[in-house]
Parts: sequence; C-alpha cells; structure tokens
Amino acid sequence: MCGIVGYIGGNEALPILIEGLKRLEYRGYDSAGVAILGDNLEVIKTQGRIKDLEEKLKNVKLKGTIGLGHTRWATHGAPNDINAHPHYSESKNIVVVHNGIIENYLDLKKMLIKEGHTFRSDTDTEVIAYLIEDFYEGDLLQAVKKAVNMLEGSFALGVMSRDDKTRFIAVRKDSPLIVGLGKGENFIASDIPAILNHTKDVIILENGDIAEIKRDTVNLYNLKLEPIKRNIQRINWSVEDAKKGGFKHFMLKEIFEEPRVIKDAMRGRVRDGKIEIPDLALSKDFLKNVNRVYFVACGTAYHAGVVGRYATEKFLLLPAEAEVASEFRYRDPVIDKNTLVFVVSQSGETADTLAALRLAKKKGAYTIGIVNVVGSSVSRETHDTVYVNAGPEIAVASTKAYVAQVETILLVILYLAKLSGKLGRETEKKYADAFLKLPELAQEILGQSDKIAQFAANMKTIEETFFIGRNLDYALSLEGALKLKEISYVHAEGYPAGELKHGPLALVTSRSLIIAVDTYTPLREKTLSNIKEVKARNGKVLSIASEGYEKIKDVADAVFYVPKTLDELSPVISVIPLQLFAYYMAEARGLDIDKPRNLAKSVTVE
Ligand code: M6R
Repeated sequence: MCGIVGYIGGNEALPILIEGLKRLEYRGYDSAGVAILGDNLEVIKTQGRIKDLEEKLKNVKLKGTIGLGHTRWATHGAPNDINAHPHYSESKNIVVVHNGIIENYLDLKKMLIKEGHTFRSDTDTEVIAYLIEDFYEGDLLQAVKKAVNMLEGSFALGVMSRDDKTRFIAVRKDSPLIVGLGKGENFIASDIPAILNHTKDVIILENGDIAEIKRDTVNLYNLKLEPIKRNIQRINWSVEDAKKGGFKHFMLKEIFEEPRVIKDAMRGRVRDGKIEIPDLALSKDFLKNVNRVYFVACGTAYHAGVVGRYATEKFLLLPAEAEVASEFRYRDPVIDKNTLVFVVSQSGETADTLAALRLAKKKGAYTIGIVNVVGSSVSRETHDTVYVNAGPEIAVASTKAYVAQVETILLVILYLAKLSGKLGRETEKKYADAFLKLPELAQEILGQSDKIAQFAANMKTIEETFFIGRNLDYALSLEGALKLKEISYVHAEGYPAGELKHGPLALVTSRSLIIAVDTYTPLREKTLSNIKEVKARNGKVLSIASEGYEKIKDVADAVFYVPKTLDELSPVISVIPLQLFAYYMAEARGLDIDKPRNLAKSVTVE
C-alpha cells in the first residue's frame, strides 16, 4: 500500500503534491518523492518520511504546474533512495508512480534485460516505466495502454512524459485511485483526503480504467482505449473521516481491508494451481536435513505462529513449536544447524522477537522472517524473508496483519512440503484453488458484520469471557481473546476446549460468555460436547462454526456461520468474526479503540 497524488493546473504543483502526500502518509511512510514537469522533467526522492523529502527539496528549485508524488510502503526492494518513487524510464523521458504489486515483473524484467536494458532499482515498478518507454511513439496514452496490457497484478499508476506538458495518464487495476475535478485544474490520488482541500468532486476509477488528465478535461477509457463514462461523486467528509475511508476507526477500516490483504498475500505465489514462494532462497538440500521447526513471535504474531505449528506437523511432518519470544530468548532452546526458525512480526522491530532471532542464529538455526514492514530489522537479520504485504497497520490492535501472517505461513509451509516431496501435485492444486477463493469468502463474512455488532451490543456488560476451540480453532481462540481484552478491557481467556473441565469450568456461571470456535471439521463433535458442558453450567455461548453444521444451533445461544473452506485454511477467514466481535464490544463500551490504554503499536523495548 502506497500513496499517489498527481496535479495539473494553473498553480505550482509542488506544494499541492506535498500537502497531498502528507495526508496520504498513513498509507506508507518509508520513502517519498515527487516528479515535476517544468523546463525539465525532474525527480526528487528520498528514503524516509515526507518531512525528509521537504528537507531535500529545500536545496532545489522545482517549478512546474504538472507533477506526480508518491509516499511508499515498500513491497519489492528495500526502502532506500533508489527504490523510492517516482521511477524514471531508462532515458529519463517517462516517470511512473505506482501503488500495488506487479506479479510478473521478474519475467518482464528478464525480457527487458535480454533486450539490452539496464535497471537502476530493485522495484517491480521500474519495469512499467521501461515498458512504456519501449512502446512510446509520440503518444503517451497509447504507450501506457500497451504497457498495462502486459502487466499482471495490482496497480494504480500515474505516468508523465517529458514531451507532453498537456496531460498525464492514470490507470487503475485492483489498487484504489480517484480523480479529483477542479476548475482549470485536475488531480489524481490514492485516497480522498489528499485532495479534499481543493475539490469535493471526484470520480472513483474502476478496475481497468485509464484516465487522461488534462488541465480542463478528464477523458476516461477502458483498457482497449474505448471511451467510457463514470459518475462524479460529491464528497462531504472531513479530512480525518476520509483518512479512515469513512469508517469510525482505523481498526474497522483495516478489518474491512482484509479481502484485499488476502489477495495481496498470495500475489505471485498462487498461480495456475501451483504454490510458489519466489522470495525464498532456502535450498532443497537444507530442507532435507531440517528436523525441528520453531515459530517465535509476540502477541498476535505469536498466535499466527501457533497456526504455523499445526500446519508444520501436518504438512511437513516435523516436530514444531510456537514460542513466545520473551520466553524463548531466556531459555535454552534445543537448536542446531538443522533447525528452522520462523520469526513472525508485523513491525519487524519488536525487541523480544529480535533477541529471539539473534539467539536462534547464534545457535546455528536457519531463520525465515514472516514480516510486514519491508526493510525492518527482522527482515534484515533473517536469512530469508517472506513479506506478508498487508500494508501499513495503524490501529494498535493487529487485525489485517494477522490474517496476512497466517496466510503467508500456510503458503510457505505448503511450498516447503512440496519442495520436500511431501505434497502431491493434486493436493497442491486443491490448496491453491482454495486460497484463490478466500478473498470472496472474507467479503461474505464482512457482509454480515451487523449480526456480530448486534450480538456484541447485547453482551456489552459482560465481564468474563472464554474463547475455546481445538487444534486450529484453539489457535484462533487465543487471538480472539487477545483482541477482546486489548481493546474492550473485558477479561478474556483463550483455552483449548478440552482443558475447560480441568479447572476453568469452575468459573463458568450465568454471567460468563463463552465464544466457542468450531470450524475444524475433524474435531467439531468434540468441541460440541464442550459447549454442552458450558451450557449445563448456564454459561452463554456464541459459536463460530462452519456453514452447514446445523447441529450446533440446538446447543449454542447464537451461531455465526463462516463459509466453508479447507479446514487448514479456515483460520485466515474465521478470525474475522472474532476481530469484529472485539471491535463492536469496545465500541458498545465507548472506548478509544485505535489507541487502547497502556499499549503501543510497536514494542521496541524489552
Ligand atoms: O510488530 P509485531 O508483530 O512484532 O508485534 C507483536 C505484538 O506486539 C503485537 O502483535 C501486539 O500483540 C498487538 N497489539 C496485538 O493486537
């Protein structure tokens, strides 16, 4: 997720772009840049935040009334000056800003290198600029059309040519982009807040739209360059509301981003019935000798690791443990050169997680980071890193990062199973096909969020909750309980359903709420028996069950059905009702959801 802004009109472009970028900084903040077309086509960019870009701009005079700006959240290539956008084409006649992921960029890059081109950055974006230049025969619109038809993946683009001061071109596919309509000036932006100061009239571009943005007109086309029409919408939001996309809190916005996040986590990894992890360098030979696997992490990332433990045992047939990093770092974990350690972290900067990683490396383990923030300490220090591509997460309570972590871990484990000959071709295809359906299923769940909101509102005075489940549902119970306690301040315990009778059942009364996660088919009857134990003590039960499990309705007080997928993939979507429940409980209790008391987004001290 990055932020794009573009301007053409009668005013100096630079201050308008900088103001827009500041309002998009929530979309990414590891590097920033602008391109201004004046006497020349100039690009100034830097690693760091918009304030760092402003600092750099103090020493340069950039004059021109047409320009593009970008604030980056890295996906391909470390956050540094060279990888920052805008990207020039090889001759520097074209510039491109991009938000999204080009899945086939390596193939395109190889093709262009074969033709004799030399690249400057490690990004997927640069190939777009080079392709456009290759196709350019005096008409930027035609060249962009030809180039984008070769791209696979997601992209929102702004493209400018040194030869053409009358327009720039914008394209949208699977990444958001809007056009802002002014008087004698027009804009593009990744999101509404960037341009709200200048206009309230916007066109929300749809997938496959190409926009030709001129000072006085905006022309819209489809990918064949046939003219199309879109409605103009009037936006009456405040800037703050707009940043949250009209949602009341970032947490809710991030939960509603999950269908997109699920897609992005598998981009370039699930194709044609195959699962590939191109970012993984670990060799087949090393894999043969691996005899133990750890997942180390904190908080929500640790809970994603618990899913990884089950998946490792099932698909890699290896002993696996999920460990809380703050414990692991002070133990004497049995680790040697045949140990594989996954280090899971959204920020990649958590102090305990980093310490655990260093200990594992010192003892000779091979380490793989499952990380969201590109270029973070964990990603720099692990042997391999697989990014989860969730985009910046702003709410303290982690939601979309968890979904992306779980999905990425499952993809990596399945890929390693394939590499080590433990996953047959048919099974691989079965899982690949099921992954592709997950975004739609997530959307289906979100479409029923009002049911969860209603249930939470009815339960808002409850003070004691247990989240129970078995196997992967237990992993989910841990996360459901953490979410609830951290933002709604309700006491919550995540428990293996079978453990209840060994103690916690003594606490269950008519004042207790039990959230029973029962999506894992092989054990659902067992969990059902545990629900009956709770009901016999007058506890209230909300069950999260898989579609079609009708029996549970007769036992639980309320059931929320999640759509059916393969059992092992269910955590990716079944966590959504748990996240929504925590959110709506906190909302019903009138709490500061995005900034819960006593907590910080990234815990960089021990
Ligand atoms: O950035 P990390 O993933 O390493 O952070 C780990 C935990 O601090 C984090 O997941 C924390 O538990 C969240 N507040 C949970 O919502």
